[in-house]
Amino acid sequence: MSRSFRAEIRENRPVNANHNLLTLAPLDIMEEPRPGQFYMIEISRGLDPLLKRAFSLFRRTRDGFQILYRIKGKGTSILRELREGTIISLLGPLGNGYPLPAENQTALVVAGGIGIASVFSLVERIEKRAHLFYGARVGDEIFMTDEMSGYYRELLVCTDDGSCGRKGTVVEAMNDFLSDPSLEGKEPVIYACGPQPMLREIGRIASAKGITAYLSLEEHMACGIGACLGCVVRTKEGYRRVCKEGPVFEAGEIVW
Ligand SMILES: Cc1cc2nc3c(=O)[nH]c(=O)nc-3n(C[C@H](O)[C@H](O)[C@H](O)COP(=O)(O)OP(=O)(O)OC[C@H]3O[C@@H](n4cnc5c(N)ncnc54)[C@H](O)[C@@H]3O)c2cc1C
Ligand code: FES
Repeated sequence: MSRSFRAEIRENRPVNANHNLLTLAPLDIMEEPRPGQFYMIEISRGLDPLLKRAFSLFRRTRDGFQILYRIKGKGTSILRELREGTIISLLGPLGNGYPLPAENQTALVVAGGIGIASVFSLVERIEKRAHLFYGARVGDEIFMTDEMSGYYRELLVCTDDGSCGRKGTVVEAMNDFLSDPSLEGKEPVIYACGPQPMLREIGRIASAKGITAYLSLEEHMACGIGACLGCVVRTKEGYRRVCKEGPVFEAGEIVW
């Protein structure tokens, strides 16, 4: 099946000053996405910007899916202006996605900032099993919590300045949770998406405690299909393409 398809914008609404939620309805047959997979979206039919932009599956809807995105530069500034009824071209779902936790595993899902866009479909999929640690710099950057309620087992919000939830980082909160005696005898598994320093620290903690951690990486992508080698990262097995062998890697594989 071709991974190229068109979709109609059903809604493109701001969730705060610099983040939007895009709701799409495919016009062609679309392959069923897995949590952690992503799409390459053609922002403009012209040459500028030429390259498609990568966005994670946020959540599946009845007749399509949603993408949660941060307005960052030129491409996302154009995307935010696209109105209901506009037809866009996409490629996807791409990448490997998150391996699902086994029945006996306790899933810790850690999101830093817009990293929530990648992990939420996993939280939804594993139905009330996720201990979700969701952090941002300030309370204004924590959103969609109402929409997420009912899907996780537990939500712990953290902000650097304490303006929402616990003051401190999600990594500290995750680490405290891992030290809780009630976890004794259980097998934790970590899933995370967020800024690189956060992922690196989670990888370090997971390795020190002998826990499996799956990290979703972000690299600049030109093709999204493994052809340009523009997105490689170093792993113990050599260089790997984030768009093809990733974006999810076991923390122990990555050479930081
Ligand atoms: C697998 C994957 C999934 C992603 N999922 C999401 C998501 O769900 N929501 C979201 O808001 N963002 C996501 N991103 C980041 C998103 O792709 C960039 O924010 C976006 O491409 C920025 O485009 P721009 O033109 O607005 O920014 P500019 O800075 O103008 O972009 C210039 C170039 O750099 C690339 N680029 C810039 N920032 C990034 C970045 N962080 N990662 C990769 N390429 C970048 C752009 O694609 C473009 O080619 C994801 C990135 C990857 C690799
Ligand atoms: S973006 Fe081209 S190989 Fe990954």
